[in-house]
Amino acid sequence: MTDARPAAVIVLAAGQGKRMKSALPKVLHTMCGRTLLGHVLAAIEPLQPERMLVVLGHERDQVEGFIAEAAPKAEIVLQEQQRGTGHAARVALEAAADLAGTVLVMHGDTPLFTTETLQAVLARHAEQRADATMLTAVMPDPTNYGRVTRDADGHVTGIVEDRDADDLVKQIQEICTGVYAFDAVALRDALDQIATDNAQQEEYLTDAIGLLVKEGKAVVSVVAGDWRETLGVNDRVQLADARRYMRDRLVNHWMRAGVTITDPQTTWMGVRVRLEPDVTIHQNTQLHGTTTIRSGATVGPDCTLTNTVVEAGATVVKSQCDGAEIGPGATVGPYSYLRPGTRLGARTKVGAFVETKQADLGEDSKVPHLTYVGDATIGAGANVGAGTVFVNYDGVDKHHTTVGDAAFVGSGSMLVAPRDIGAGAYVAAGSVITEDVPPGAIGVGRSRQRNVLGWVLRRRAGTRSAQAATAAGADGTMEPTDAGQQGDPQ
Ligand code: UD1
Ligand code: CA
Repeated sequence: MTDARPAAVIVLAAGQGKRMKSALPKVLHTMCGRTLLGHVLAAIEPLQPERMLVVLGHERDQVEGFIAEAAPKAEIVLQEQQRGTGHAARVALEAAADLAGTVLVMHGDTPLFTTETLQAVLARHAEQRADATMLTAVMPDPTNYGRVTRDADGHVTGIVEDRDADDLVKQIQEICTGVYAFDAVALRDALDQIATDNAQQEEYLTDAIGLLVKEGKAVVSVVAGDWRETLGVNDRVQLADARRYMRDRLVNHWMRAGVTITDPQTTWMGVRVRLEPDVTIHQNTQLHGTTTIRSGATVGPDCTLTNTVVEAGATVVKSQCDGAEIGPGATVGPYSYLRPGTRLGARTKVGAFVETKQADLGEDSKVPHLTYVGDATIGAGANVGAGTVFVNYDGVDKHHTTVGDAAFVGSGSMLVAPRDIGAGAYVAAGSVITEDVPPGAIGVGRSRQRNVLGWVLRRRAGTRSAQAATAAGADGTMEPTDAGQQGDPQ
């Protein structure tokens, strides 16, 4: 392929995106973890254009803020009034008066183009020494796109917008994708001549093609190999279409890289997710942000992981994890909720209805059921019984609790932070622990049990319970152990 580094890329993104019916600028809507404009900028980046111009207008402050982070080298060009794509391109060329050579023009609302496709357009443009090279696509349903007209020999004659097309033209399935390579001088010249005698009273960039053809300039085309890559997003239905295509592309990429995805249709992931070979992902799983899953791990069904690392051989089932590190061989779920700052060591277990936050579990430790672990460090080989609460919040501040190696916390305990449960210590089930428990000790933080004999027979006489108790040999007398009491508790 010819080295065809463009002198500039111009991205048109000043439009309001009316059809989105959104307070958010259209190009800042997201799919697969990136804004629409972010996808466009990511496809352009490897082309290493000498200059990168983004035309903004509507809601430009928000978009400008995004570009400052995503593509700090990009130059912002302001199009005060949105008078059409041709006008937007003209404003950009006016801002770069000395620009010469090849200019790639594309839209901010076509997020699916790959770098390879853009390179193919630039390569054809260079090979053909063309004045304009446009990327077209043959769409099964070309409604709303500009149609490419050709003469009897198949040479491009121009582009007719959907709203300006008659029935015959509307049947044309070859559309304008909005991606073009132009010779800067030829484009400048054409844009100066563009009129607004069309249905929208706008300056259409598409008219530049017809003008250049009429002037006898070299206008060529490249037909996209996959029309889905050229989908534009004008409303939220098209956004969903584009997102599905991007999803397909991402899951196909990872399956080819050695990941088993049992139900690609219900598996969603962002562009920054990283997966290793022999990872298995089951249905209804969403992977967001920088989530990373290592070899041999299984995630799903029904998991949502955000910025989470799952180490080799770990298993996560029906769970929500955000900012968590799940150690090698660990098991999580079903129905676990791991919040930021959770770090699970090797072979740990976090089970059903367990929530964790700022929680560090040493290797082989288990928190199997119905527990809240907040602001805690748990050593290796510890066991936290069902229904334990790390009481970390006093209404004003959060406090930390430490549980030592091989400690055993009995079920239904409240560990009132800040607290230190020593190595090898036990906590008796049902304790409210308000003092530290030294290593090897058992902390018993509950009142003594007393049994009031015969209470049911006296106070609930005639009930099924009383009958069952009688059948089991109970009688209604108080035993001497009750002596001294004030009577039956109510
Ligand atoms: C445009 C093309 C159509 C093509 C389709 C491909 C024109 C006239 N039509 O139609 O042939 O099939 O894209 O997706 O070019 N913009 C500006 N300033 C403006 C107007 C638009 O910057 O004054 C930007 C928009 O923000 C958008 C892009 O240009 O990113 C395209 O504009 P849009 O209104 O979406 O054009 P389409 O109707 O999709
Ligand atoms: Ca569009």
